[in-house]
Amino acid sequence: MMKISCFLLLFIFPFSCIQAEDGSKLWLRYVPVSKEIAQSRSITVAAENPIAVRAQQELITFWRGQSIDLKLDKKLPYLKDGFKITGHSERIKVVANEPVGLLYAAYHLLKLQETDQQVSSLKVEEIPSFDIRMLNHWDNLDRTVERGYAGYSLWKWDELPGVISPRYEEYARANASIGINATVINNVNASPQILNTAYLAKLQGLATVFRRYGIKIYLSVNFSSPKILGGTSDSDPLNPEVILWWKNKVKEIYQVIPDFGGFLVKANSEGQPGPQDYGRTHAEGANMLAAILKPYQGFVMWRAFVYNPTTEDRAKQAYQEFVPLDGAFSDNVIIQIKNGPIDFQPREPFNPLFGALRKSNEMVEFQITQEYLGFSNHLVYLAPLFKETLASDTYADGAGSTVARLTDGTLRPARKTAIAAVANIGDNINWTGHHFAQANWYAYGRLAWNHQLSSEQIAEEWIAMTFSKDKSIIDAVKEIMMTSREAAVNYMMPLGLHHIFAFDHHYGPEPWGDQKGGRPDWMPLYYHQADTIGVGFDRTASGSNAISQYSPEVANIYGDIKLCHDQFLLWFHHVPWTYTMKSGRSLWDELCYKYDHGVMQVRDMQKTWDRLEGQVDQQRFVEVQSKLKIQAKDAVWWKDACLLYFQTFSRRPIPYDIERPV
Ligand code: GCU
Repeated sequence: MMKISCFLLLFIFPFSCIQAEDGSKLWLRYVPVSKEIAQSRSITVAAENPIAVRAQQELITFWRGQSIDLKLDKKLPYLKDGFKITGHSERIKVVANEPVGLLYAAYHLLKLQETDQQVSSLKVEEIPSFDIRMLNHWDNLDRTVERGYAGYSLWKWDELPGVISPRYEEYARANASIGINATVINNVNASPQILNTAYLAKLQGLATVFRRYGIKIYLSVNFSSPKILGGTSDSDPLNPEVILWWKNKVKEIYQVIPDFGGFLVKANSEGQPGPQDYGRTHAEGANMLAAILKPYQGFVMWRAFVYNPTTEDRAKQAYQEFVPLDGAFSDNVIIQIKNGPIDFQPREPFNPLFGALRKSNEMVEFQITQEYLGFSNHLVYLAPLFKETLASDTYADGAGSTVARLTDGTLRPARKTAIAAVANIGDNINWTGHHFAQANWYAYGRLAWNHQLSSEQIAEEWIAMTFSKDKSIIDAVKEIMMTSREAAVNYMMPLGLHHIFAFDHHYGPEPWGDQKGGRPDWMPLYYHQADTIGVGFDRTASGSNAISQYSPEVANIYGDIKLCHDQFLLWFHHVPWTYTMKSGRSLWDELCYKYDHGVMQVRDMQKTWDRLEGQVDQQRFVEVQSKLKIQAKDAVWWKDACLLYFQTFSRRPIPYDIERPV
């Protein structure tokens, strides 16, 4: 039956049986080769490891080119889990130090094939930028996903470990194809229950699948787990009874998952428990867990996302808490730091903790899920945002001390380097809710592998593998993608404005938001500080002086209203409405133009997409087109809401050539 209906469909819609057009295949649209091709060349592997055999299998099934020999060479530790490929038109040689390096090489070759690059003469050496390339899922045990916009969690806890959904393997394969090798499978606001013996058996089911693709499982843990699960008198990290509970738990975890990666901890942050509940420091809490994990080679990712509703500027608080602890953390603790000092805003300056922590391991945390970027309704390509942070020069060790080089081990040696991002993946048929949100998962993986790749290059690869290899289509789609992040900043929060979202859900605008009785540091008024004089948060010496947390080279620029880039102006300065901007316009007029420009940019994105009708498959064409309509409407909503609100302070007219708010 199946065969017949597929055959009929093939007749009516020639591509429907070959390519899923619902987006479920992501960028992995390789087509199995014919028998003739398979017989015309050989793919050998000189290793018995199952991951190496998988590499061979992928190539046997999909590689259309010449013969390939895959080989492990343990004498090449400098390659880490990277690979070397050399070859000519008859034969390609692939060498790796780790089995997974062979798998990455296989996906590299398939990428070359799928993006129409030449493979007749190859000389490639790839060594990943970061050792641990991690996704953080904010998935709850009831399968809701915090800030998730792609359906429910992929992990079907009620069925595991009995039922292993085929999607677990698809997920692992997609990650391996872009070099992701670590996944934290549960929310940082962690339920202690994840450490229950019953859940560990379920995790074992997932780990078994992920292992085949070189992916290690990590867990977010709740610091109160010993008390809640184990009935200890408290969860004080110095209490021997608590330490013993963690020791036994870690032992139990490694018994079921021998390659378990370690813990991610959100402690004393947004109401989560932590060592400070017992008068202990972050370092005392982190080191207790690190010491227990160390014999198993495990790691602790300890988050620096901490702030409290005090009179102190929120942007300063993580630095204030963590810099005094610098040097106190064990060497298997990595401080996980959000890219900016507030919270994954459309644009933030880099977090001043980067570089300021001199004797601690540090890693960046990005957010792929679009909590602050229109959820899965808006098309926003995030590679430019990721790159902007990674390329930011902190000057911590002199010029060139970019966030990338401070965290990838180039400037400061680290036992293991790492990078993380909050996943945008759910059980939606297309995985990410918006077809273009797949590009953000892809781009994150590619940059974690090689942070020197350009946003354009990554977009080109992704488009070619996901939509079409046609140059004119690639160019058009790339233009949309490359415009999209700047467009979102313009129609949401231009010129350094930040956190003026509607309370809690963070989708639409609410610059007037002031929930009575709510935390003041969660209210937009706190962030934009608009008054009749001007708008913006004064973080210079005359204000909160957050600027002093940056190196002088950075502070001298950001702190000087004349030198500060427009994009961060209202982040660091309270600027009069009448202030003359670099463009020659007043601040008020510039703000109007920026919002208006954002709307125009989205309309241009729509026009470009509309021209692709008939050139990309109809299902994805229509689905993207519909989402762009939402985005265009939302962009107008943002512009009108923000301009009408800020106008109540500026009391200045909206320039005549700006589209009138309705
Ligand atoms: C944001 C987000 C929360 C999340 C938190 C975190 O504040 O809104 O849902 O828990 O970040 O990163 O811990």
